[in-house]
Amino acid sequence: MRTPMIAGNWKLHKTKNEAFELIRTLSPATLEIDDVEIVVAPVFTVLDAVAQVLNESNIKLAAQNCYPEPFGAFTGEVSAELLKDVGCDYVIIGHSERRKIFNETDLFINKKIHSVLDADLKAILCVGETLDERENGQMFAVLKNQLTNGLANLEHRLMDKIVIAYEPVWAIGTGRTASPQQAQEIHFFLRSLINDLFGPDVSEKTRLLYGGSVKPDNIDDLMAQPDLDGALVGGASLKSEDFLRIIKFKKSNSSFS
Ligand code: 13P
Repeated sequence: MRTPMIAGNWKLHKTKNEAFELIRTLSPATLEIDDVEIVVAPVFTVLDAVAQVLNESNIKLAAQNCYPEPFGAFTGEVSAELLKDVGCDYVIIGHSERRKIFNETDLFINKKIHSVLDADLKAILCVGETLDERENGQMFAVLKNQLTNGLANLEHRLMDKIVIAYEPVWAIGTGRTASPQQAQEIHFFLRSLINDLFGPDVSEKTRLLYGGSVKPDNIDDLMAQPDLDGALVGGASLKSEDFLRIIKFKKSNSSFS
């Protein structure tokens, strides 16, 4: 069975004090939860400080990005090696904001994935179509390219260090969530693709998260879908009450019992 994951992507939010405050509320409230993997992804500048306070908790640390080279003359960049050094477990790679605002290509994203694995970290690879691509019937081709190219040249045995996040661009920060059925359709498609690329064992084990306006009031219906294994949460992960409710999604109708 796949252990569900709820990950909070804080994006460009939270000062050090604000981060401490959020973690101080989340940590004790999540100590008893052992059937959901909980992850937070703060900005680079507070990773080290947050890592210290997460020590006593059940929450794992992720970075939101990395540069694909471990060290060198790359002014302003941060590598997976250095993220490992401060205590990260995961790195989010290929978020649509990075693809769009920073022109990240599938090739570059694939290099980053390899660098994350080389540093002995795990990656959350994001894929997702724009509204135009969905409406023009390009959605499946776009997702296939992003997934296949993002995972190019990856050894099968390393797929247990990869989590996929489906984040339709039109649902991010818009309050417009994909319906549970829309999300399930894509997750089923992505799992079939992973089956084609890596075989049935890997596809059964790979966790597929949904991201895009996940909130306390839609998480239960999303998680009831058989191919949804968790969520990558933006805005709602910034408020302890909302994030906790999402972590404590109702499992009654889902495949996790
Ligand atoms: P929102 O939950 O704010 O829509 O953001 C989703 C996201 O981009 C998570 O990575």
